[in-house]
Amino acid sequence: MGENPFLSGNFGPIETEATVRDLSFQGEIPKDLAGRLLRIGPNPVAAGENHHWFAGNGLVHGLRLREGRAEWYRSRLVRDDQVCDFKGWPRTAGPRFREDSSGLANTNVVDVAGKTYAIVEGGGFPMELDYELETVHSSNFGGGLSGPFSAHPKRDPDNGELHAVGYFSGWDHLQHVVVSAEGEVVRTVDIPVAGRPMVHDCAITENYFIVFDFPVIYGAPEGGNGAGSYSWQEDHGSRVGLLPRQGAADEIIWCEVENCFVFHPLNAYEDSDGRVVLDVVRHPKMFASNLTGPGEGPPTLDRWILDPKGGASKESRISDRPQEFPRLDERLVGKPYRYGYCGASGTVGPFGGLLKHDLQTGETLHRDDGPSKQYQEPVFVPCSPDADEDDGWIMSYRHDAERNTAEVVILHAQDFLGTPLATIDLTVRVPFGFHGNWVADS
Ligand SMILES: [Fe+2]
Repeated sequence: MGENPFLSGNFGPIETEATVRDLSFQGEIPKDLAGRLLRIGPNPVAAGENHHWFAGNGLVHGLRLREGRAEWYRSRLVRDDQVCDFKGWPRTAGPRFREDSSGLANTNVVDVAGKTYAIVEGGGFPMELDYELETVHSSNFGGGLSGPFSAHPKRDPDNGELHAVGYFSGWDHLQHVVVSAEGEVVRTVDIPVAGRPMVHDCAITENYFIVFDFPVIYGAPEGGNGAGSYSWQEDHGSRVGLLPRQGAADEIIWCEVENCFVFHPLNAYEDSDGRVVLDVVRHPKMFASNLTGPGEGPPTLDRWILDPKGGASKESRISDRPQEFPRLDERLVGKPYRYGYCGASGTVGPFGGLLKHDLQTGETLHRDDGPSKQYQEPVFVPCSPDADEDDGWIMSYRHDAERNTAEVVILHAQDFLGTPLATIDLTVRVPFGFHGNWVADS
């Protein structure tokens, strides 16, 4: 086996947590931005050569903006058991899903009812962090979680509820979990499924919670480890479940789609005929030949129209440019919307420029700042609470491969290809990772 690509270059871990104050920047930071741009990714403290990208210990990053200044950037390891043992730190207190749960949380970092959590799918409870990203304790939301949470809760913009899909390799079901805006678990419904599928994300519409069931199945292939215990099992088939939001598990409507794998939807909504429009980043396969991370052919942005009355699913392609990490103006989660923002694959790897899709005109803008400038997931922040869709800022951590350091770039979404409003020099490297969010100071 050659060098593991997920341990080298900007995928490779950093050894030292960083604190940088009063960062220098070009341009102007919008004064209305007061809060933290958070993101997280894997940063293994002790990886073997067949390390899976998804299995690395969480490293959370935060950039604090206020009054037009970049006050600080911090990176902190999420203190799971392996990190604490490796560093000689006391283990983190708090509830665990199972006795052998390690506390690993590496995939997303979110605000729930004013608290910051590092979250992960398939095995662990959230890890609560303080404002400056130090791990506080693990959390089951006050006792309400009965199983693993998800890295991709979807926030209903009308009531602030979080909808998530839980799963675990030892379960014969998925779980619809709803957390109230106050941070309490208010609904848990088990959804039986065959096999043990990896279910990374979900979607919501006005009336449905949308469940994915694709052929990445728990079952260790030769050489698999960590998340590599999941592999492509063609015969499982691919389907999407429409569960009435308040419905029982047996009310779910399954819609077959062509075999594929989806980590992330862009958004979903119901059209005037009551059909569900679901936009997804579609991979032709996943973990079929590459067991250390995604890499089975270019992912595309596709639109599926699903008929709750049992009609055939309609599938079409919105954009065939390789892309991932789809985001939108999250005031429109579950509702008709026009714009999507994605990371564009680069010429030499999965991280490159940024894409902006106008789903009304079909136009896609491709921001490409050259091969050495590699954007991570874009985050959209509206300029004001009642601003129009797309009237807001795109914020992204960008790797500068020439200087081997990271910057945070702030664009106006309506000047997507123009000079950034601000480019903030973090002075340190931020490894390629997964997801993040803007958390405004309340
Ligand atoms: Fe994800």
